[in-house]
Amino acid sequence: MGYDAFLEIDSWKNVKEVFKMAQFVVVNRNVESREMLKLIEEKCNKFDGEAIYLKVPNIEISSTEIRKRINEGKSIKYLLPDKVIDYIQKMTYIEEIDNMIHKIEQKLKEMLDEKRYIHSKNVLKAAIELGKNFNVDLEKIKIAALLHDCAKNLRDDELLIKAYKYGIIVDEIQKIQPFLLHGPVGAYLSKFEFGIDDEDVFNAIYYHTTGRKDMTTFEEIIYLADFISIDRNFEGVEEIRKKAFENFEEALLMSCNSTLTYVINRNLPIHPLTIEFRNWLLMKGGK
Ligand SMILES: [Fe+2]
Ligand SMILES: [Fe+2]
Repeated sequence: MGYDAFLEIDSWKNVKEVFKMAQFVVVNRNVESREMLKLIEEKCNKFDGEAIYLKVPNIEISSTEIRKRINEGKSIKYLLPDKVIDYIQKMTYIEEIDNMIHKIEQKLKEMLDEKRYIHSKNVLKAAIELGKNFNVDLEKIKIAALLHDCAKNLRDDELLIKAYKYGIIVDEIQKIQPFLLHGPVGAYLSKFEFGIDDEDVFNAIYYHTTGRKDMTTFEEIIYLADFISIDRNFEGVEEIRKKAFENFEEALLMSCNSTLTYVINRNLPIHPLTIEFRNWLLMKGGK
């Protein structure tokens, strides 16, 4: 750490503990002096710790300048080690997404009834747990999960109007069951009402009800998280929940089968995308 900052170490929280845990390396851009070394030693004696003084070449890099560049979106390459830059960028990204999520939540509260809003938050939690097992962008997963049902509280006529507005081709089955459109319409709402212009998020929302063949892992996570979220209590959900963390692919197939059973028992037509989804799952599972 810098010499100036080291002189103010008394203001740190649990400073004695820090001294116990670490040895300080003190650097200074100015020339070393006897007085400086004396002051460093005094601090060490005060806190019963150790510090070494390191002579460093005088490089004109200041943390204030680096912070300023980050805030202005300017490059900080060569001003910090690459690993540190990666870490800062990751943290900045997470902070941006957190702010975005906060805004989405405020808007969703106005669009959804309480039960549906709670469901969306539960899907978010389930999606994070599932997503941890895969190489996916967890921050994006959060957004897709939170928004997956953003069109769920629209009436049938509203869904049909919005489908027309966004140029969604409404098929025969969606005409009879317009609620199936809450996926496609939700995808467009996420883009145009929430400003999330991202293909993964768009497709995950679009196909979360029907599924489709060639689903990406990202889409599958949202599909399954919707099924196993804690507020779900249909018959067999516990088994799928357990399976989701043991055998992800099998859990997807179980979820798809469960949807089909539900649709068949109610004598409703099956959406062709769901059939294609199931066949694809069976083929890739080699069953
Ligand atoms: Fe849904
Ligand atoms: Fe849902």
